[in-house]
Amino acid sequence: MNIILLGPPGAGKGTQATFLVEKYGMVQLSTGDILRAAVKAGSDVGKMADDIMKAGKLFPDELMAEILGEHMDAIPADKGLIFDGYPRTAPQVALLDGLLSARNRTLDHVIELVVDEDALVARVVGRYTCANCGDGYHDVFKQPAVAGTCDKCGAHEFKRRPDDNEETVRTRMAEYRAKTEPILPLYDARGLVSRVDGMASIEDVTDAIVAIVG
Ligand code: AP5
Repeated sequence: MNIILLGPPGAGKGTQATFLVEKYGMVQLSTGDILRAAVKAGSDVGKMADDIMKAGKLFPDELMAEILGEHMDAIPADKGLIFDGYPRTAPQVALLDGLLSARNRTLDHVIELVVDEDALVARVVGRYTCANCGDGYHDVFKQPAVAGTCDKCGAHEFKRRPDDNEETVRTRMAEYRAKTEPILPLYDARGLVSRVDGMASIEDVTDAIVAIVG
C-alpha cells in the first residue's frame, strides 16, 4: 500500500505518519525531513534548501524528485510508502507518477487532512521535538509526561524548527493554497482522495485514517 498525506503546514501529516509506520510497518518519506537532513549535513543541496525553507518557499521540482527517488530505492519493495509533504505542485504529481511506475508501485490513497488555517499557526509555532530521538511535542497539545524529559528516550534536550515562526508559516500556507491545493482535483479525478477532519483529536484523526486504509 502506498499513500499520500496531504494538508497545509501543521495539519498533522508527520504526526499521523508516525502512527501509520507503527501500525502497518510502512515507511514514511517526508521530503521536509529529507531536506532538513541535507541542511544538517551541510551538503550543496542542504545549503540551497536552507535558504528556501527559511523563506517558506518550495524546493525545485526536478531536484526534489531526484532526491526522493534515491530514498525510494533504499526501501524494500514489499514495504508500503507514506508520502508526507510530497507532491506539492502539479509537476510533482507527474514526477511522482513516474517515480512510482518505475518501481512497479501504484498509489492507493490520497488522504487530505482538512483543517482550519488560523488554528494551524498556533499548532506549528508551539511544536518542538526531542533533540535526541525526534519525538514530537507541543507546548499546549502534547507535552511530555514529565516536564523537560522525552517520553520516548528520556533525553532532556529539545529543539524547534527555524521555519516555525508565524511569518514563515503564513508564507508556507500561501504556497500551499497557491500550488498544492490545486493538485487535489487531479487525484479526485482518479477517485483516490479521502477527506479527514484534521481538527479532530490526534487519536480520532488516526482512527479515521485507519478506517480508510483498512
Ligand atoms: P515540511 O517539513 O513538509 O513542512 P509542512 O508541510 O509545512 O508541514 P509540517 O511538518 O509543518 O506539518 P505537519 O502537517 O507534518 O504537522 P505535524 O504532524 O508536525 O516542509 C518544510 C519545507 O520543506 C517546505 O516549506 C519547503 O520549503 C520544503 N519542502 C518539503 N517538501 C517539499 C516538496 N515536496 N517540494 C518542495 N519543497 C518542499 O503537527 C504540527 C503540530 O500540531 C505538532 O506539534 C502536533 O503534535 C500537533 N498536532 C497534530 N495533529 C493534531 C491534532 N489533530 N490536534 C492537535 N494537535 C495536533
